[in-house]
Amino acid sequence: MNNKSLRQAAVSLEEEIISLRRHLHQYPELGFQEFITSQYVASYLEQLGLKVQRGVAGTGVVALLETGRPGPCIAVRADMDALPLEERTGLPFASRHEGAMHACGHDGHMAMALGAARMLTGIQRELAGTVKFIFQPAEEMLGGARHMIDAGVLESPRVDGIIGLHLWPDLPTGRFGVKAGTVMASMDHVDITVHGQAGHGAAPHQGVDAIIAAAQVLSALQVLVSRESDPADAVVLSMGSIHGGSLPNIIADQVEIRGTVRAINAAARERMRSRITGLAQAVAAGLNARADVRYEFGYPPTVNDELWIQYAEEAICGLFGTEAIHRLPHSQMTSEDMAYYMEHVPGAFLLIGTGGTGQGRYPLHHPQLAIDEQSLPYGAAFLAQFVQNFLQGKKEKDFTQEGQ
Ligand code: NI
Repeated sequence: MNNKSLRQAAVSLEEEIISLRRHLHQYPELGFQEFITSQYVASYLEQLGLKVQRGVAGTGVVALLETGRPGPCIAVRADMDALPLEERTGLPFASRHEGAMHACGHDGHMAMALGAARMLTGIQRELAGTVKFIFQPAEEMLGGARHMIDAGVLESPRVDGIIGLHLWPDLPTGRFGVKAGTVMASMDHVDITVHGQAGHGAAPHQGVDAIIAAAQVLSALQVLVSRESDPADAVVLSMGSIHGGSLPNIIADQVEIRGTVRAINAAARERMRSRITGLAQAVAAGLNARADVRYEFGYPPTVNDELWIQYAEEAICGLFGTEAIHRLPHSQMTSEDMAYYMEHVPGAFLLIGTGGTGQGRYPLHHPQLAIDEQSLPYGAAFLAQFVQNFLQGKKEKDFTQEGQ
């Protein structure tokens, strides 16, 4: 089957892929609670004749397409969880689950992977090796990928590499955001408690004002990005939450500040950890207060393998021409637990355009996000094409020559 036929196959599957996505969109579930979602995904894969394992790391699903011929094992990864948001799109297939919405495109990720599974099942006689479809729980904040890896998802059969897509409203439909090396940032969490001493608002000298100390800590921390970081070495510090005090006329004795730190390399992560801790403690101490800093390393940066990005570009080019490739000029400061798989095996994580006009202009995590569904067959075709190239290429280059 040539490149055109996989593109053709995706076009003829368009209606089915969109209806899969709409169904999944209506029943969003939060991390590690993807019960209805994973049943739906597993049933579809079983109907295709794949060997399906349910309940991996809780709600994860792993499906094997075994060609029966020796060859490599390539993993296709999709995430299944939704966000705790109230949908406001007004679409006929909007969320039916109160307080949950597929606002990060994971419904589309599943639909594209299922579409690819269907296409690859149709051409499995031309392939050698195994395709492992990984549908993981809890990508949002909870690191479901790590739980899947702990459950052995990269073993038996051992995965030689992994691919995945993320829908991306900043790019138009039909274009793929591609970057070798670091494509997404790390995501670390910082939690600072500033302790003062309570007192009467009319007698500030008898207490230690935790609110004033917290304000100074917050301002001082901004220096770590604006003055201490190499401007060419992207770092983000966002404090998204601050709570403290009870009444206007009481000196607050405690303030809690919480935030996120994004960086694209290990040195910057470590520097931010050490400087946030030291500076917060020093500033608070200088004001007779005390800062307790809890710093937690979260998702590592997502690092694409150079060779796998080359394979990805070949697949895109063969299907849609070079104009479909958008080389990202720099890393995105968003984060992905796809990073965990790619700490173990080479891989490619690409952004796929799904926006630009109408409701497609809303960003991810927005209650009015409405992806352009026309993008889904592009993604399904890409995943299938990548796998086909890989399992055929390896078959010819590595396996037949080894006489297997
Ligand atoms: Ni996401």
